[in-house]
Amino acid sequence: MIEFRDIQKYYGDYHALRGINGTIKAGEFFSLLGPSGCGKTTLLRTIAGFEGVDSGAVLIDGRDMSDVPANLRPTNMVFQSYAIFPHMTVAENVAFGLRRDPRSKAEKAAAVEEALTMVGLKGYGARAAHALSGGQRQRVALARALILKPKVLLLDEPLSALDKKMREHMQVELIKLQRQVGITFILVTHDQEEALVMSDRIAVMFEGQIAQLADPETLYRRPNSRKVADFIGTMNFIPCEILSENAGSYEVDIKGLGRVTLGADQVASDENSGTPAVGLRPEALTLLFPGQSSEERKVPGKIDEVIYFGDMTSYDVFIGGTDIEVRLSMRNVPGRPVMDVGTEVELSWSPSALVLFR
Ligand SMILES: Nc1ncnc2c1ncn2[C@@H]1O[C@H](COP(=O)(O)OP(=O)(O)O)[C@@H](O)[C@H]1O
Ligand SMILES: [Mg+2]
Repeated sequence: MIEFRDIQKYYGDYHALRGINGTIKAGEFFSLLGPSGCGKTTLLRTIAGFEGVDSGAVLIDGRDMSDVPANLRPTNMVFQSYAIFPHMTVAENVAFGLRRDPRSKAEKAAAVEEALTMVGLKGYGARAAHALSGGQRQRVALARALILKPKVLLLDEPLSALDKKMREHMQVELIKLQRQVGITFILVTHDQEEALVMSDRIAVMFEGQIAQLADPETLYRRPNSRKVADFIGTMNFIPCEILSENAGSYEVDIKGLGRVTLGADQVASDENSGTPAVGLRPEALTLLFPGQSSEERKVPGKIDEVIYFGDMTSYDVFIGGTDIEVRLSMRNVPGRPVMDVGTEVELSWSPSALVLFR
């Protein structure tokens, strides 16, 4: 549907996009995720046609967009500051996108009502736009974009101005909306949780490049570099020594945890610049409670920090006999007490949850 072919983009001397390649499929909920300044908005604007490229090309439906102006592209954009007109009604705001549409007044009114229904604002047409809440304004901005029936909806941090509760609510609404209308959504966000929750696939960007493009589970379970692993969720890195390699699998000696063999699918593809390490997510480690046994590998530890979140508790634990501290998270199920700082514990872990950064 959308293809990036080796896109290079400069702002003066500043190299903003450094060889972007990749494909976005039709009907996909796709996110561009990365820290502020990595080039997400710039890349989104090259799709919309608001920004040209210095070399390479954006293709939509197989067609090179280089000479196609923004208003003739099958895309529409919802901006970070969803500029709606406060002096107009909700319906007038949504109809604004149709001002050059030759349809009759009645047909346009029906289209406005349809768009408002889609975003959950049925019956709000006559209200004054300035009287709306932040979440409702964002819905108006969405309706205004959707009424033009674009093939691709481009969303630049559309939820960042909302408070946490409303943002989480709108995330679910956006997912439902995308499924309902079936068009391609491309979302820009710097919030890794938001990207994981919402997307079919995610391109993780750093410094003008795509570091990894994959579905959320692959990004989380099999990050291809330490940088991606660190950006998405929490990852414990434990130094290890590589003992041998055989057809892509590695035998390693992990500090404090001992020897394991890691399959080729557990090896991050990018070469690691520092010392080799294995990565282990907090939920891949389990605190064994007194009397509890485990078939998995075990290691002693001592609790150094306890953070209670209500539904779960996060523990920082020193691995026995080392200065290595790992973070692990445990669900607070009934009958399982929260443990105290200083408690000597046993941790269980499974080699299959490890990723090797060579
Ligand atoms: N019009 C511009 N002129 C000069 N530099 C720009 C312009 N737009 C963006 N930049 C720079 O390009 C980099 C990427 O910007 P942007 O795409 O907005 O990042 P993001 O959306 O990931 O935060 C930033 O360093 C930014 O300062
Ligand atoms: Mg941006």
